[in-house]
Amino acid sequence: MGQNTDLTAEMPIGVFDSGIGGLTVAREIMRQMPNERIVYFGDTARVPYGSKSSETVTRYSRQIVRFLLEQKVKAIAVACNTASAYALPEIERECPVPVIGVIRPGAKTAVSKTRNGRIGVIGTRATISSGSYKAYIRRIMPEAEVFGQACPLFVPLVEEGLWEDPVTDEIARRYLASLLDREIDTLIMGCTHYPLIRKTIGRAAGENIELINPAYETAMELRRMLGEMSLLAEERQPLGSGEPQYRFYVSDMAGQFRQFANSIIKYGILAAEKIDIYKYSAEPLRTPENH
Ligand code: DGL
Repeated sequence: MGQNTDLTAEMPIGVFDSGIGGLTVAREIMRQMPNERIVYFGDTARVPYGSKSSETVTRYSRQIVRFLLEQKVKAIAVACNTASAYALPEIERECPVPVIGVIRPGAKTAVSKTRNGRIGVIGTRATISSGSYKAYIRRIMPEAEVFGQACPLFVPLVEEGLWEDPVTDEIARRYLASLLDREIDTLIMGCTHYPLIRKTIGRAAGENIELINPAYETAMELRRMLGEMSLLAEERQPLGSGEPQYRFYVSDMAGQFRQFANSIIKYGILAAEKIDIYKYSAEPLRTPENH
């Protein structure tokens, strides 16, 4: 993407996810860049993405990007690990505003932290089978040994509120056993929901394993990126009357989303609005012909 001169620091950042999990990324952006406005979209009608194909997730992601561009965002953070694994190259190539995914920042930090070059990755089935984390890690550290483990039960456990529960502890122990056998010293929590059960994952991993939170690393990287492009909001943006700093949109179940969001974000969520995501085209944003 060339530098888009229509973008200004006052414009909001677009963040999207398959549902509520991406709020862990939005929360980090709020903490690290308190002056920024955010437009968040959670695809609650079509969650989960973690058990869908690359083609489907890419089509969904294009619809959401179109919606966010309509909201006049200056940059897009793909908060969903599965969407980052499957759709990021297409979105990056096609999108007229800067795009950041969660995988590259998480991979980069894991490489900087590992001492023995043995890195574990946990995520949805899709994220793990895409091999995306491994590919990014190997690009920076070709000799790294990367071991993936899908943890499909974590997302429903988090959404059921079982963050501190013996059942979640037991499942975490089972999932992590094979990674511990591989003597990893660094573990990437490669799914939006996992930072919410960080303590449980930490107990199962043991204190000698460094946990990497891609949500945190992505917000850091986004801050750097916006700074370099002179798109960082230096001061609190003046808002129109009744215009919230953070706007939340979903494709279904706005009430449930709002409840969950209020439990993890302490910045007072005013509303979550349901929109019709199906009306946006799922075709590539730019075809080679109109480039
Ligand atoms: N947001 C997804 C991710 O980070 C997890 C939930 C889902 O499967 O859609 O991979």
